[in-house]
Amino acid sequence: MTNYALLASAAESFVLKGDIVYCKGPQELVSVEGGYLVCVEGRSQGVFEQLPERYSGLPLRDWSGKLVIPGLIDLHTHAPQFAFRGIGMDLELLDWLQTYTFPEEARYRDLAYAREAYEAFVRELVHGATTRAVVFATVHVPATMLLMELLEASGLITMVGKVNMDRNAPDNLSELDAKSSLAATRAWLDEACRREFKRTLPILTPRFVPSCSDELLAGLADAQRQYELPVQSHLSENPAEIRWVAELRPDARCYADAYLRSGLLGGAGCPTIMAHCVYTDPDEAALLKQREVYVAHCPTSNTCLASGIAPVREFLVAGMRVGLGTDVAGGYSPSMLHAVAEAVKVSKLRWRLVDQCAPPLTVTEAFYLATRGGGSFWGEVGSFEPGFEFDAVVLNDDDLPQACADTLASRLERLIYLDAGSRVLEKYVAGTRIGL
Ligand code: GUN
Ligand code: FE
Repeated sequence: MTNYALLASAAESFVLKGDIVYCKGPQELVSVEGGYLVCVEGRSQGVFEQLPERYSGLPLRDWSGKLVIPGLIDLHTHAPQFAFRGIGMDLELLDWLQTYTFPEEARYRDLAYAREAYEAFVRELVHGATTRAVVFATVHVPATMLLMELLEASGLITMVGKVNMDRNAPDNLSELDAKSSLAATRAWLDEACRREFKRTLPILTPRFVPSCSDELLAGLADAQRQYELPVQSHLSENPAEIRWVAELRPDARCYADAYLRSGLLGGAGCPTIMAHCVYTDPDEAALLKQREVYVAHCPTSNTCLASGIAPVREFLVAGMRVGLGTDVAGGYSPSMLHAVAEAVKVSKLRWRLVDQCAPPLTVTEAFYLATRGGGSFWGEVGSFEPGFEFDAVVLNDDDLPQACADTLASRLERLIYLDAGSRVLEKYVAGTRIGL
């Protein structure tokens, strides 16, 4: 389990000077040009126009003229799909899984293959603007442990799930039955606890209802309570998937209700992320809200797999918890800046083509989802307000004409659309500078 007290004592105290932009609320972007962002033992003390006297003894890291933003939070991605990102975008979800995804994931039985692929995934995550991520691995325990080791060494903060799947997958990937899937999960959890990672938490990861028998889901619910773990899965992504779930689980009122009946849908002591929710109707949304479930909106994936456009505006109006995910490799880009731009773009199409009563997301709202929205899964994360954990990214836009973007908000907007992941100069996670 993560020991946050230990993390904080390892973190430094310092001041960052730069052009600072962050969200206070979904419609409230704060910018301070030439501002001072103070970090004390891993937590933000706030942003100041003049450095208060009480912080004048702290070391100053001067990034004047550079943009400083909160680290971005990828609420849903698949590490073993990174190697085939950008390939196989011609199929819908269920065929895409069988044709491309399951054969690729089967390769992670081979630890040498897993090492090469996972090292590349972690390198990419470290170099971009993401500071925290919630990650699917595969069914394989050794490869999942390896991924956790690599992520722990990177300094990023992540949750990683060994995937559970005991039906409807090829023999070379599927676990034999519920019992062996549960035994492997417990072996993985015991090993993960024994290692005492500081930054890398296990998260229970039933792939989705079609992959998991009722017996498996029930056993995972027992493990969830015993180990007090968060949960992640997929929900209401694609029409054929949803029809299939209705056949597999005639007991359930809706797709989310299948997880609920199995004891794996949020509520006290069971923080849960459901990816996609493209076809979540108001009844399902009400259930997610009641159970305090996080929706991981994955716009790039929803476009590439022709899944549809999630009703994010409705989720926000309803006061639901929403963050953004890249969903590599349903989404081809691991960049969360790209995900922010895509969230705005698909919301415009939904407004134009589907629902003229749902105004598109603004850039500020999408940036909020990528920072505070997803960050709140960890608590006070994703902003520079006093008390928030200090996740910060310094971005370089020196070579772009500043005269055309004369406010910090417009400089941020441009870096979002230009996908400035390669422009990261420095990155801090919970107050610790991580090597790029
Ligand atoms: N549903 C079940 N598995 C997957 C996956 O790997 N990617 C996406 N996008 N949806 C899924
Ligand atoms: Fe996914």
